[in-house]
Amino acid sequence: MQRKWSSGRMFLFAAVGSAVGLANIWRFPYVVGANGGGAFVLIYVASMLLIVIPLLIAEVALGRRGGADPISTMTTLARESGASPRWRAFGWLAILTTLIILSFYSVIAGWALAYVPKMLMGLTQSGVEHIQAEYAGLTSDPIQMSLWHGVFMVITIIVIARGLHRGIESAVKVLMPALFLILLGLVGYAGFKGDFSAALAFLFRPDFSKLSFEVVLMAVGSAFFSASVGVGAMMTYGAYLPQSVSIWSVAAWTAVIDLVVALCAGLATFPIVFANDLSPDGGPGLVFVTLPLAFSQMQGGFVVGLLFFTLLFAASLTSAFSLLEPAVLWLRTKFQVRRARASWAVGLLVWVAGLASVFSFNIWKDVHLFSGISRFQSSTIFDLLDVLVTNVLLPLGALMIAVFAGWQLSTGMLRQELVPGKATSLFAVWQILIRYLVPIALAAIFVGSLL
Ligand code: TRP
Repeated sequence: MQRKWSSGRMFLFAAVGSAVGLANIWRFPYVVGANGGGAFVLIYVASMLLIVIPLLIAEVALGRRGGADPISTMTTLARESGASPRWRAFGWLAILTTLIILSFYSVIAGWALAYVPKMLMGLTQSGVEHIQAEYAGLTSDPIQMSLWHGVFMVITIIVIARGLHRGIESAVKVLMPALFLILLGLVGYAGFKGDFSAALAFLFRPDFSKLSFEVVLMAVGSAFFSASVGVGAMMTYGAYLPQSVSIWSVAAWTAVIDLVVALCAGLATFPIVFANDLSPDGGPGLVFVTLPLAFSQMQGGFVVGLLFFTLLFAASLTSAFSLLEPAVLWLRTKFQVRRARASWAVGLLVWVAGLASVFSFNIWKDVHLFSGISRFQSSTIFDLLDVLVTNVLLPLGALMIAVFAGWQLSTGMLRQELVPGKATSLFAVWQILIRYLVPIALAAIFVGSLL
């Protein structure tokens, strides 16, 4: 039998740590602003409630029931419920996907890490050109980028090698409260020093004319990417969940905190961007150029900049734990490999795989594997991996979880995990969502994003 989390709260820290990451801080606020503000937020909240939370519940419940890594869990559960042993494929898909995500996630997280010393050395005290040159210099230098990507992986590996209690729990116990404090501090600073009302308008003024089928797909897709659902990470964390903890409440809290953090990240960054007449950009440009620029023009920008990149680094680190743990647990379970050895082996493999993403920004910038397809004409390997994960692997994984939990597993077994003793209408609602709404919505994302 596996070890367990020390408490429900520890699971919550780890699960929120997994969910809150780069996607919340640099992607969500921008996507909201560009896609209808409050109207988008409404759809996002609805997809959290109706799709993401039911999926999280299912994934964690499967994990706790199976009590092992995604491959072993699916094998056991398929056997127990008389389903086809082919369901094990979900486990393979999950482990492959977590490792692919980690390979490029770690590259960007490496930038966040690199910016901590850059801030300390006074990046915000230098001029506009210097800030732009610093970013260009980092991304065009394969050696520097591989090193930071390597340092980030080594930190992740060390934590995972120390195990559930001495590693993940010790880390999230410190990092999550720190993360919330920093975030609150940044929102407060932005409220005082920035243009808060412009940010509020950008994030919340509903513009229903911007809503379209694509925007709805984007909202659903972002919601479940942000909650780390569908790739076996939450299943693995669920395997360590003590039987006494209620899955409903931890799943709901994880999703709610993830949402609140994303909104706060918007309230921490956009007031500063608008107060300095900078344009809200999406992705790397916003975080690594626009924000340092804004910080450089503000009183206290040095400290705020330093805190911001520390926050970004901490948030991506706790996400990375949940991306490395499933494969490590699998090696331990299947081949009795020692934890430390498994962590270093998988971590090293991920680092090497990540070099493809590192090179996508410099020496392989002009390598376009699918240049024949107009949509991918100028996509680098990094871009392709991102599309593969977000549009194909994640929706597919989530769809498999929904179908398996909704249609294959016996209701009795699910009730044991979800409603010990009590018959509840909550369970009935969940079952309807996971059987009908969730698979249909996921199939729509899957088809919609391929077209
Ligand atoms: N939720 C993470 C973020 O917001 C990214 C992510 C997506 C993830 N799927 C995951 C993290 C699975 C861990 C496990 O940045």
